Amino acid sequence: MKFFYILNIIFMAFLASVSASSHVIDVINNCGTPTSVQLPGHGIFGAGRRTIDGDVRGGIAQPCSDINGVGCISVEFSLVDGVSSADITLIPPHRYDHKASFSLNNGQTGATCDNPNCGSCNAFYKYDDYCAQRQVNGPNSSIRIQFC
Ligand SMILES: *[C@@H]1O[C@H](CO)[C@@H](O)[C@H](O)[C@H]1NC(C)=O
Repeated sequence: MKFFYILNIIFMAFLASVSASSHVIDVINNCGTPTSVQLPGHGIFGAGRRTIDGDVRGGIAQPCSDINGVGCISVEFSLVDGVSSADITLIPPHRYDHKASFSLNNGQTGATCDNPNCGSCNAFYKYDDYCAQRQVNGPNSSIRIQFC
């Protein structure tokens, strides 16, 4: 009985160690507009640099106060312990209102959309514009997002 108890503690410690990843999310907004950053399961934030412990799935950031980015350009991202990805989206109800750019893992990859016609390899205009998607692999991925 005691053996299994100890085994269980070791197993739980192992689970805690494999799931320990942290992600730096840095959002800069030079547009003079409000910033909203929605991180499901973690909260809603403004601009700034923060470290999130654990996975961030379906995060979204935009240079406007709508937390879903309705009416503005948005950067969507998932930062996980594995393949992390990010993209700029202009799929309606998103709309080009300001320049947006992001970089994953301090410049390993990224994208910029600086005009309404920046192209489907820089922003999603429809759901299958996969060319606009950027990915990195590994733990503790980070993203830097800049508006204007
Ligand atoms: C990832 O972050 C976790 C938590 O901060 C840390 O324990 C771990 O060593 C990091 N892994 C790598 C490969 O940097």
